[in-house]
Amino acid sequence: MSEIIKENTEIKCSDLVGEKSNTEKKIIFSGAQPSGKMTLGNYLGAIKNWTMFQDDYECYYSVVDLHAITVPQDPATLRRQTFELLAQYIACGIDPEKCTLFIQSHVIEHLELMWVLNTMTYMGELNRMTQFKDKAKKSELNLNAGLFTYPVLMAADILLYQADLVPVGEDQRQHIELTRDLANRFNNRFSDTFKIPEGFMPKEAARVMSLQDPSKKMSKSDSDPNAFILLADDSDAIARKIKRSVTDSVGVVRYSDEQAGIKNLIDIYANLSGKSVEEIVSMYEGKGYGVFKQETAEIVVETLRPIREKYLYLLENKDYLKEIYASGAVKAQAKARKTLRKVYKKIGFVARER
Ligand code: TYM
Repeated sequence: MSEIIKENTEIKCSDLVGEKSNTEKKIIFSGAQPSGKMTLGNYLGAIKNWTMFQDDYECYYSVVDLHAITVPQDPATLRRQTFELLAQYIACGIDPEKCTLFIQSHVIEHLELMWVLNTMTYMGELNRMTQFKDKAKKSELNLNAGLFTYPVLMAADILLYQADLVPVGEDQRQHIELTRDLANRFNNRFSDTFKIPEGFMPKEAARVMSLQDPSKKMSKSDSDPNAFILLADDSDAIARKIKRSVTDSVGVVRYSDEQAGIKNLIDIYANLSGKSVEEIVSMYEGKGYGVFKQETAEIVVETLRPIREKYLYLLENKDYLKEIYASGAVKAQAKARKTLRKVYKKIGFVARER
C-alpha cells in the first residue's frame, strides 16, 4: 500500500486547499468517543489539529457515541460524557459557526452505510486490526460483534462525508488504511463513488505516551490516573503528574528511544511551545530533569487553563450545546444522505417513493 499519511503539521491549510475555490472546499472528518474524559493525548494527537483546518475546510466533527457502546457504558455516564465531549471540542477552539459538530447517533446514515460496507469487508481484514486484538485481549468475556466491526463503522463515518483528510493520532492509522481499501473496493466494483481519504497526523505527539509507562500510549481508560493528564485537570494535578512521571537514571535531557519518558515530555513540550526538539534539548543541556519537568508542566498548565475554564462555562450552558448539536445533525445528515443515495442507487436498491 502506498504511504497515505500526511505526517506534517508544518503544512499550511492554504497549501492543502490548493487551487480550489471557496465553493469547492476540501472536506475534513474526525471524531472522538465519549467513553471517558479527554486526555492531553486526544488534544495533541487530534483535536488541536482539528482547529487548524476550520478556516479553510468544510469540517465535520462528531461525538461518536455509536462507537463508544462497543464496550459496556453506564447510560447516565454516557449521556453526561457526550455533553462533556461536545463542550470540550468547543473549549479547545473548535468554532461551531465554522464547523459542523454533531452526535453520531443522530445521523442514522452512519449505520446504513456501515451495513453496505460490512458486506464488502473480509473477516481476515478485521482480524488483522491491532486495536481489535488489543481490546479482545482485555474484554474476553464481552467479545461482542460490534468490537469486531468497529473499523467498518469508522470507514462509514469518513466516507459518508467524502472526506479528503482525517486528522487523527497514530493509533488510528490502520483504520484509515482499511477505509481507503473499502472506498477503492466499492469504486472498482460500482464506479467512482467515494473520495479516497488521507490521514493527517501531527509531527510530534501523534502518539502521546503514558506518564507512568512510556511504552504504552496515554489512554483515558488507564486504571492509574497518574498515567494521563486530563484536559479538565487543574493546575496542581497537572504539575504533580508531570513531576511524578517515570523517567530514567541517565539524568541528561536527550531525545532517544532509550529514554522514552523524557522523549515523551520533549514531544509534548515541542508541540505546545512550537520549539524544535533540538532547541529544547540544547536549552536543557547541563540541567537536571527537575527543572525540565517543572517548565514542561508550566507550558501544559498554561495551555490547558483557558480550555478548562471555557469547558466549565459551557457545561453550565446545556441549551447552547443542544442548539449546536441539533443544527449540526441537520447539516451532517444532508451531506450524508446525498452520499448514501448514490450508494443505494449504484448497488441496485429501488429508490424510495416520496
Ligand atoms: P478516540 O476516542 O480513542 O481518540 C480520539 C482521537 O485522539 C487520538 N488519540 C491520541 N493521539 C495521540 N496520543 C494519544 N495517546 C492518543 N489517544 C487518542 C486518536 O488517535 C483519535 O484521533 N476510532 C476513533 C474515533 C473515530 C474516528 C472516526 C476518528 C470514530 N470514527 C472517524 C476519525 C474518523 C477513536 O476511538 O478515537
